[in-house]
Amino acid sequence: MRNFEYCTPTRLIFGKGVVEQLPQVLAPYGKKVLLTYGGGSIKKIGLYQKVLDLLKGFEIVELPGIQPNPKYNPSVLEGTRLCKEHKIDVILSVGGGSVLDCSKAIAGCACYDGEPWDLITGKVPTKAALPIVDILTLAATGSEYDCGGVISRTETNDKLCYATPLVFPKVSFLDPTYTFSVSKGQTAAGIADAINHILEQYFCEETTIMNDGFCEAGIKSLMVNGKACLENPEDYTARAEMMFVCTLACNDIMSLGNSRSGWPMHGIEHALSGYYDITHGWGLAILTPRWMKHILCERTLPRFVKYGVNVFGIDASQDPRDIANQAIDATYAFFESLGIPMHLKELGIDESRIGEMAHHVAVNEGLENAYMPLSEADIVQILKASL
Ligand code: NZQ
Ligand code: ZN
Repeated sequence: MRNFEYCTPTRLIFGKGVVEQLPQVLAPYGKKVLLTYGGGSIKKIGLYQKVLDLLKGFEIVELPGIQPNPKYNPSVLEGTRLCKEHKIDVILSVGGGSVLDCSKAIAGCACYDGEPWDLITGKVPTKAALPIVDILTLAATGSEYDCGGVISRTETNDKLCYATPLVFPKVSFLDPTYTFSVSKGQTAAGIADAINHILEQYFCEETTIMNDGFCEAGIKSLMVNGKACLENPEDYTARAEMMFVCTLACNDIMSLGNSRSGWPMHGIEHALSGYYDITHGWGLAILTPRWMKHILCERTLPRFVKYGVNVFGIDASQDPRDIANQAIDATYAFFESLGIPMHLKELGIDESRIGEMAHHVAVNEGLENAYMPLSEADIVQILKASL
């Protein structure tokens, strides 16, 4: 077991109606609030008005219109400008992972006077950040319980992870009822994203019985509850467990002491959504079985066998190769059963930029150090197999 240090300082407030506590929880961070949100879903579900009603005694400045795959320009730049101009005390993010990721970038950039992009790329270390409180409306990314945010810069096709412990949310409100309205497509994307976060931790060289069990249970929970959410979007129990597992799935708690995997599927997916602005979870669902087939070999075989037997209940007495192949096919079939398009072509992606994307990934994502090292040529093959 490897050495590790773990600290997630975020306070989670989970359950039906918990948002009523917002004024008391927000007050210690100050009176001037930057309210960040997306394209309007929070207005449709009545949460926007609810927040304004609850925060009558606060001074609110709004940053609406944050897009999925949040953009550096305009959202991060505009939010940074608003924070400086209005001397904002705290950012209140209301929405999905994109709104929260953008808020994290704004929180750091608002405390820095140089070129904001230098903070996002890590060229300049973040020394301070505004506090962030969030109300999550979509179960997927785990951004509510981690210290990273993924920011896209359209003109360079970059999609970069901005991470610093300074942007852990101070408080995350998780009321599963606010996720009832999430569309089937986005719910499926959330299931695929969170399953992928767990797979990225599960497929590594050194693990423990404890962590493997945690991961396997997490994947099974997401499969069962995710399906239930799709069948009945207002199934509170299913939405609640899905939200809880998603929250735990991306902050390393499921793999403490494991060796690093390098998160290869995310590395490749960042290029897909950086170049084509596709939904992150769909891109991952498409890549996952192709990546699995690509890395299946004598060294990785035991992991696939364990995954197949413990997650899908495949008969352990069969030939290990057969078990592994059945596990990969079952992974594909599960994502397909969620209604996710399973070919890049269905998302408008053809062969034309595969070489360019693979080069971008090879240069920027460090996948030569992944659990199963991936060269530029490997990445090309995985992308081609995903077409
Ligand atoms: O913009 P609005 O109108 O709010 O609509 C959003 C958006 O169109 C909608 N939505 C959100 N809550 C809703 C709702 N619609 C109806 N009812 C609700 N309650 O859903 C759409 C997608 O929202 P988005 O925030 O983009 O989805 P998600 O939470 O999946 O976030 C995806 C982003 O997170 C990044 C991804 O790369 C992507 O940019 N990730 C962040 C991570 C992190 N911070 O740790 C890790 C992940 O691996 C991921 O990379
Ligand atoms: Zn993800």
